[in-house]
Amino acid sequence: MQTVTPEFIAGMPKAELHLHIEGTLEPDLMFYLAERNGVSLPFETVEDVRKAYHFSNLQDFLDIYYQGARVLLTEDDFYDLTLEYLQRAYEQNVWHTEIFFDPQTHTERGVAFETVLNGITAALKQADEDWGITSRLIMCFLRHLDEQAAFDTLAQAMPHRDKIYGVGLDSSEVGHPPSKFERVFAKAREAGFVPVAHAGEEGPAEYIWEALDRLHVARLDHGNRAVDDPALVERLAQDQIALTMCPLSNLKLCVVKDLKDHPLRRLMQKGVRVTVNSDDPAYFGGYMNENYLAIARALELTRGEVLTLAGNAFAASFVSESRRKELFDGLARYVASFA
Ligand code: ADE
Ligand code: ZN
Repeated sequence: MQTVTPEFIAGMPKAELHLHIEGTLEPDLMFYLAERNGVSLPFETVEDVRKAYHFSNLQDFLDIYYQGARVLLTEDDFYDLTLEYLQRAYEQNVWHTEIFFDPQTHTERGVAFETVLNGITAALKQADEDWGITSRLIMCFLRHLDEQAAFDTLAQAMPHRDKIYGVGLDSSEVGHPPSKFERVFAKAREAGFVPVAHAGEEGPAEYIWEALDRLHVARLDHGNRAVDDPALVERLAQDQIALTMCPLSNLKLCVVKDLKDHPLRRLMQKGVRVTVNSDDPAYFGGYMNENYLAIARALELTRGEVLTLAGNAFAASFVSESRRKELFDGLARYVASFA
């Protein structure tokens, strides 16, 4: 059996479906933007920043992540941030990407919704023109904030339905179940936004049931804790609800103690459509290729299984059917090149 090498992963066409644009803020860019905008940072050097990136749970990370986002103020900042991520995606053979953004992280600091949105979408357009990378944008509600704040954010998004494809739910999970946002999601779906939600990262399997039955999500972000509930696994497999899993994130945030314990393969073997993604790559030590390689090595995945993961992401992408065909054709050509 041929082993999965870094070259095999690097050359494979990929789609990324779980990526927070604020989580792509590399320390170098953080310092550069802090200087450009006159924002003070609680770190002296890039080395200090990297040393601070040790987390024992999700909240530890979020505290630092929201701090970092303070350097993002202008449309140019959001453009630069997004284009830097897309450049890396291009270098890693990512053909399609679906990007989360958290408007409340910025509007709470007085940055206009349109400043965030216009900066990001200008970079997405540029990457499509220059590199042929297609994308979708998903606006997340911060679940630690209240329902009214989410309704206000949804109202701000309404004039921009042409640019924002879906709505999601992120931030501190435990104590903030999906049901808290049932009414906001109903309104968002009615307006045509496709719903997704983080569930079962730290929260229990019950939160995944809620995301399915009360938010009616088209896809689930993380979903690790589904393994605790065989009936839930069966439901995910039956309805082909994809999970956007994030191996290095799970390791860094202590969702798993060791990548060898990661549920990705067990779920895949039960027929669940699992995918590999990077979540917040600047904070967790790896972009797409590093995530694929780490999970392939830890779980001793075969080349066939890795190709299945890449295909799962194409199948679960929110793309047109013609684009989906291009993605699958690219993967088929890649497989044929090894025959
Ligand atoms: N926001 C950014 N990354 C996140 C994660 N892994 N879980 C919840 N919220 C997030
Ligand atoms: Zn996430």
